[in-house]
Amino acid sequence: MPFYHKLGKIPPKRHTQFRKPDGTLYSEQLFGTIGFDGMYSNIYHEYRPTQVKEIKKQYNVAPKIARANNMESLRLKGFDVKPEKDYLSSRKTVLTNSDCSIILAAPQESLKDYFYKNTDADELIFIHKGSGKLRTFLGNLDFKYGDYLVVPRGIIYQIDFDTEDNRLFIVESRRPIYTPKRYRNWFGQLLEHSPYCERDIRKPQELESHDEKGEFLVKVKKRDEIFEMVYATHPFDVVGYDGYNFPYAFSIHDFEPITGRIHQPPPVHQTFETDAFVVCSFVPRLYDYHPDSIPAPYNHSNIDSDEVLYYVDGDFMSRNDIEAGQITLHPAGIPHGPHPGAAERSIGKTETEELAVMVDTFKPLQVTEDGLKLSDGSYYQSWLEK
Ligand SMILES: [Fe+2]
Repeated sequence: MPFYHKLGKIPPKRHTQFRKPDGTLYSEQLFGTIGFDGMYSNIYHEYRPTQVKEIKKQYNVAPKIARANNMESLRLKGFDVKPEKDYLSSRKTVLTNSDCSIILAAPQESLKDYFYKNTDADELIFIHKGSGKLRTFLGNLDFKYGDYLVVPRGIIYQIDFDTEDNRLFIVESRRPIYTPKRYRNWFGQLLEHSPYCERDIRKPQELESHDEKGEFLVKVKKRDEIFEMVYATHPFDVVGYDGYNFPYAFSIHDFEPITGRIHQPPPVHQTFETDAFVVCSFVPRLYDYHPDSIPAPYNHSNIDSDEVLYYVDGDFMSRNDIEAGQITLHPAGIPHGPHPGAAERSIGKTETEELAVMVDTFKPLQVTEDGLKLSDGSYYQSWLEK
């Protein structure tokens, strides 16, 4: 995050002696991004974070591609993804390219038996159903329905769920996830015209500092493979840190919509950016108020980006037969727009309760086997006049 955060205890000066009550040194770790150019935190551990005991296994978890080149508009029935006990195996990649993966998951159990670290992708975890606590080595974040959890690459975490009924929409991003640049001033502060500000962003507040030695399994993901690494010290042994690189939460319900007299383009809904895709939040809002306005969108050709919409709640104004938990994919290169009747139907309406997350990727998305299984097979014909 482009602001400073401090948690736990740290010495007054970086890279100086910082001692435990018994006189020995805490172990400092610089946790940085983009070489030494990006955001970073300075972390203080009970033990050296380098103590690998064993690398037990290495296995491939790359999604199986069913359709490498896709020109079909798809509707994926996301809630058909079967709930599974284990957090990592519950995550099903449905769409993917070399920059990002779109993942659906219905994990039933908290992740407690091992720790997880994604080394080359930031994770954006949207909570559609469920609540609990994201537990990380840089502090914990409580979450509930509507939260985006932003977990920068390299953050070791576990996740606790309050119940078995959880539905997650996850974007795994090989490009760093930032707040939109046009909403930040030259110091990084979110500007007045930003749809949210720093007060809406929840930082980790609770630091678990386990002073424990033993055997701790960390499943480390790197280039579509999992490495099962056993560490000799507890991964959550941090006593304090400060800096700009940490996980955070933002609720879609805190996104303040930007409205206008005529239909506003998708960028007004933008919530996050990377240099390979954007993430937008469609939230309940007042409709356009020009006397002749058409609240439903016009047909549009997203020639340079694939458009993924994940429907969360409410009635989605431009679509017929769309239910919560479904994904639509509108591939780059062909126009799409409101379904038959949707434009007329929208006229005179003054507000919408729709809630959806959109991911527009600049490279085309490939459809995986897990994704194609969820397809209804006929969505691409749903614009035909009957
Ligand atoms: Fe669109």
